[in-house]
Amino acid sequence: MAEFTKIAITTDIPNGKMKAFSIGGKLITIANTDGEYLAFDDTCTHAQCSLAGGFLDGYTLTCYCHGGQYDIKSGEVLAPPPPSPLGIYNVKVEGDEILVEI
Ligand code: FES
Repeated sequence: MAEFTKIAITTDIPNGKMKAFSIGGKLITIANTDGEYLAFDDTCTHAQCSLAGGFLDGYTLTCYCHGGQYDIKSGEVLAPPPPSPLGIYNVKVEGDEILVEI
């Protein structure tokens, strides 16, 4: 059963930045978009590049490998070539701790 697990603290991820964390056998990236923290699978569904190395503009994440784009709030693909949506996770912030439901 999924439960919230502490993954990071807020100062780990400045506004507009992303960082990947290994947790429970998964690689999950947390992004900070104007103080809102979003969590999603780090691995691009196209050719397995790390999305933490991509480019973030609001909720739009561009994969650095082939330019595929995702909406990191919904996981939806915004631009090909990724063939399927991104896995996303619920996030809550308690004090300075970022917890992700995995
Ligand atoms: S690996 Fe991400 S777009 Fe190709």
